[in-house]
Amino acid sequence: MKILIVGGGGREHTLVWKIVESPKAEKVYCAPGNAGIAGIAECVNIAADDIKGLMKLVEDEGIDLTVVGPELPLTLGIVDDFTRTGLRIFGPTKATSAIEGSKVFAKSLMKKYGIPTADFEIFDSAAEAREYIESKGAPIVIKADGLAAGKGAIVAQSVGESLDAVKLVMEERAFGDAGNKIVVEQFLEGEEASFIAFTDGTTILPLPSSQDHKAIFDGDQGPNTGGMGAYSPAPLVTEEMHRKVIDQIMIPTVRAMESEGYRYKGMLYAGLMINEGQPRVLEFNGRFGDPETQAQLIRMKSDLVPVLEAVIDERLEGIEIEWDKRAAVCVVMASQGYPGSYEKGKEISGLEKMEQMKDVVVFHAGTTQRDGKFYTNGGRVLGVTGLGEGIKESIERTYQAVELISWEGAYYRKDIGRKALKDKKG
Ligand code: AMP
Ligand code: GLY
Repeated sequence: MKILIVGGGGREHTLVWKIVESPKAEKVYCAPGNAGIAGIAECVNIAADDIKGLMKLVEDEGIDLTVVGPELPLTLGIVDDFTRTGLRIFGPTKATSAIEGSKVFAKSLMKKYGIPTADFEIFDSAAEAREYIESKGAPIVIKADGLAAGKGAIVAQSVGESLDAVKLVMEERAFGDAGNKIVVEQFLEGEEASFIAFTDGTTILPLPSSQDHKAIFDGDQGPNTGGMGAYSPAPLVTEEMHRKVIDQIMIPTVRAMESEGYRYKGMLYAGLMINEGQPRVLEFNGRFGDPETQAQLIRMKSDLVPVLEAVIDERLEGIEIEWDKRAAVCVVMASQGYPGSYEKGKEISGLEKMEQMKDVVVFHAGTTQRDGKFYTNGGRVLGVTGLGEGIKESIERTYQAVELISWEGAYYRKDIGRKALKDKKG
């Protein structure tokens, strides 16, 4: 089989890395890919949201299966366009991926079907939003309706800050049309976890639990990023919690979508806030997580390709996945200045030392290659991912690897995974 992965970040490097080892994969393509992916698959310089270009590539090369990484092509309808043309593709349709593409859609669905989430109101008028915020007080959360590259949720600690957020989103239009409507939401206390599963619209087949680290600085301080690291499993998601999430969130959501006339096929990602034994949904995504995928798929022993096919063919029931019992940690190495402005083109050293390291894989995100050397080419540059017997060992192994890699201005958090040690209670 010829397989195409759409995207070019750490998540896509991980998907490619996993798929090339499948006995079913004869040739693997990635569009646009990155320097790490170029070492193991054929990268084609087509943007992830150039649906026509991707479709032409698939037809010209006779590609049998396309797997979509990022959200933008999904919300633009890549799955609908491919399916209409008879091409096999993994991911939710345009209407279904509204669960990620529109917070108004997702929150309204949860309310209608009693799926636990924060209380909220929807506004298309800044004046009415202000009035509501003043009546509620702070802390409070303001969310742009549409996609905003992970920056559309503003947790405001004071009424003043939340009014500024309304102005930023609705009047200054910081996220363009994504801010035509906003959700104003109750602030939830607790601890976050990512719950990510394959679904064919009936069966839910979860990946192991995981936890992201969204803030740029240690101790979850500073602005949010695309994700600075992850670990799997997340001890916070006990067996009992796992059951609750399946019963109260995952199954009801897939059924709710069906009742609304949409069959949900692909990944269903619930970003959760867990407090006093109760999980609530902060957001849904219709795709694999980044960097959760790095920490999850390094633990996957089974072949990924048959699972993707079973989702498409709606025969996920009875499919089982074997997971490595060990824990995994992914530490993201970023450019200095990220998530603000940063310089590119810094030469990366130390990557060759990784070849001798056991149980460590370096997934590339923003990298490029010239004359056999690797250079930085984005905000998040590498996702160094290591396995260990338990989270403590995987943290140690991963940071040993991180310390061998460097470039001018390389930045990474020093506390990835530490939360898991606390949750384990010894
Ligand atoms: P979202 O894009 O909706 O997942 O929000 C991004 C981040 O903002 C989350 O990972 C949380 O850290 C925080 N956040 C979002 N909604 C809430 C909420 N209702 N209460 C507290 N924190 C929140
Ligand atoms: N790790 C956050 C995301 O994938 O949206």
